[in-house]
Amino acid sequence: MSLADRSLVTTDDLSNEEIEAVFSLADEMSDSINKQSTVCQGKVMASLFFEPSTRTRLSFETAMHRLGGNVISAVDIGATSLAKGESIADMARVVGDYADIIVIRHPWEGAAKVVADYAGVPVINAGDGSHEHPTQTLCDLYTLKKERGTIRGLRIALCGDLKYGRTIHSLIYALARFGVARIYFCPGRGLKMPPHVLRKLTQEYGGTLYQHPITKPPSLGQRVDAIYVTPSESHQLALMPDIEINIDISEGALYVTRLQKERAKDANQEAVSTEGYPVINADLLKGKEFKHTIVMHPLPRLDELAYEIDADPRSMYFKQAARGVPIRMALIALLLGAKKTDISKPEALPAQKIAYPVYKQEFGVRCANSNCVSTQKGETRYIKPEFKMVDLKPLTLRCVYCEHETHPPYIASSDWHQGLLTNKKYHGAASHLTRKIKPENLIIFDSESEAQARGFKPSSYAIRKGE
Ligand code: CP
Repeated sequence: MSLADRSLVTTDDLSNEEIEAVFSLADEMSDSINKQSTVCQGKVMASLFFEPSTRTRLSFETAMHRLGGNVISAVDIGATSLAKGESIADMARVVGDYADIIVIRHPWEGAAKVVADYAGVPVINAGDGSHEHPTQTLCDLYTLKKERGTIRGLRIALCGDLKYGRTIHSLIYALARFGVARIYFCPGRGLKMPPHVLRKLTQEYGGTLYQHPITKPPSLGQRVDAIYVTPSESHQLALMPDIEINIDISEGALYVTRLQKERAKDANQEAVSTEGYPVINADLLKGKEFKHTIVMHPLPRLDELAYEIDADPRSMYFKQAARGVPIRMALIALLLGAKKTDISKPEALPAQKIAYPVYKQEFGVRCANSNCVSTQKGETRYIKPEFKMVDLKPLTLRCVYCEHETHPPYIASSDWHQGLLTNKKYHGAASHLTRKIKPENLIIFDSESEAQARGFKPSSYAIRKGE
């Protein structure tokens, strides 16, 4: 499978071999960066950054210039016709006629997927709300490989804003795929990894999540609220009645992120605070458990990463940012078909490994995430809600745009018994009928009024427990 004409919306869009191919080409390009100026000659990249950016935008634009291509850009929604109410789909169609490749950063989760669905040219997600930032993950994995030689078997601590940090959400799946041994979660207060990310991690990549483990030593241990253990190791730990885990990331990495204040403010959910937020400083790194630990951060930083450690050879964050140019050069060249990979036997993409039933209806249920592109006024004119049914007990729908989970309370069948109006009933989603009705006949409602508006009457299974 060639990378030409493909889009990169989530890390699931690339196989491990394809990621390795990006790294090989990035190596080649960084060794001869001044000799790449004809690779994408005559091609145009649209750089659409509707949220602030220094690294991602400027490294993409530098990459395209280094490849001999041209860049058109828009960096303010207010200066585009989106501000007049134009839909993302229409913008994507139009920009896809002007440019050969589009790079987009947008505050709504799932916006990059909509652009990829409509543009007709390759689209790269440069960050969509708190969903994903897959090219940052490429820079992170590349840095781990360069500094550690391999990703397999590493132990990595993720510290800070695990709730809204899109770089973390993209990275965690990739780390599991590349066979890290353990991931330690060290969130700030109110900033735990969202349940939908944890479900996807364990359901799709295997391994075991240990919540509230007893951890040693206390320097980092007091902040560890969960540990993900790789499939091969988790069998051994499952035999132990009390999970007491010795944190040893001496040969691994500490990956830190800032508090994503801009998202926490909008989300109107659990209050977040910088009080007790993990801080990586010289004092912490004195611990013998961090003797060889590398410190990574996607940047920008606030107070969680002390300037005093910038000259420390374990600090990798400026190298991560610098590597963004060859990585993005390689990616652009591959997606434009200007360079080829030598992958002879392509693997299935991670997204294709579990064939969940898909639920798609114009009515009945919407994504519960208020920041999802599929719920935005203007976009609902053409986006049909679409979900993967990732669990039936309890009924759990994963939005295909933002990947948040929705737990709708009511269901019905489109195949009502003998077509009699008296049999047109809706039921509680917790009833056994959710599993009995064929997925292709299932109709799902997020309220009784929705079900009744469609002409369904309550069955004896429509009463929800606890009501
Ligand atoms: N790491 C990262 O995405 O940085 P910018 O927001 O500056 O692009």
